[in-house]
Amino acid sequence: MTEFEALEKRISVRAYEKRPPAPQLVAELQAAVDACNAGSGLHFQLIDKSAAQKPAVKLAPGMFSGEVYICVLLVGPEDALGGELVGYFSEKLILKAVSLGLGTCWVAGTYDRKSVTPELHEGEKLWGVVPLGYAVEKIPLLQRTVRSRIRAKDRKIETFVESDYPYTSLPGWIRAGAEAVKAGPSAVNQQPVNIVYKGGLVTMRLWKEKKNEMMYNDLGIAKYQFQVGAENAGVRGFWNFGEDGEFIAE
Ligand SMILES: Cc1cc2nc3c(=O)[nH]c(=O)nc-3n(C[C@H](O)[C@H](O)[C@H](O)COP(=O)(O)O)c2cc1C
Repeated sequence: MTEFEALEKRISVRAYEKRPPAPQLVAELQAAVDACNAGSGLHFQLIDKSAAQKPAVKLAPGMFSGEVYICVLLVGPEDALGGELVGYFSEKLILKAVSLGLGTCWVAGTYDRKSVTPELHEGEKLWGVVPLGYAVEKIPLLQRTVRSRIRAKDRKIETFVESDYPYTSLPGWIRAGAEAVKAGPSAVNQQPVNIVYKGGLVTMRLWKEKKNEMMYNDLGIAKYQFQVGAENAGVRGFWNFGEDGEFIAE
């Protein structure tokens, strides 16, 4: 499965089988975590409780079902830029997990904090957790309802791009990037990120006046999603981080 196919397939999985991922997959996930941490200043930690058959994290039973034996603790610098980096690299990791056939969910709130013990260096914090396991084949009604209710509030695609041009006349790769941003996860599906295409430059910004720290995770996630969507439409590039950071097409 390509990264773009994983992007198209990804949803937040809230119902897991009681079956640990195969060791080969865990090794690939560990390599992906190490790649995220290398040179980024992040401190993601893979927790593997499959041998003990114990939950790697206790997820809120009202929201989640089944068991997860593997999770990644999203530890990174506690400032806004750290939040954005956590978002960007967590999404890279999530798409990798989906391409390996696993289900995931970004979880910032609905888990028992006492059930995990992250290693924290000075200036770092735990931004959230990513459970990793096999999604049950048929999504239970409760989870389906949670998702469709929250996704019903999706913004219209045209509102994702601020530009001097109408949405329909924007370059195809920018529209592809916008579609990918829309398809991505965001906290409570708030979709707080806009793509700004002005004077030939592509940047992103948080459009809501009232900011919260999870929006910086959303900003990083949106940057990664945009990059994968644009690349699939033929334009490879990379982002500068920070709220006004530009997308540099290669
Ligand atoms: C920063 C962040 C925090 C999130 N926290 C939670 C959470 O605590 N519990 C939960 O069930 N989902 C959480 N989510 C998942 C969102 O609810 C989900 O991405 C959104 O509703 C869109 O649905 P989808 O991911 O299935 O496309 C979080 C997502 C992000 C990006």
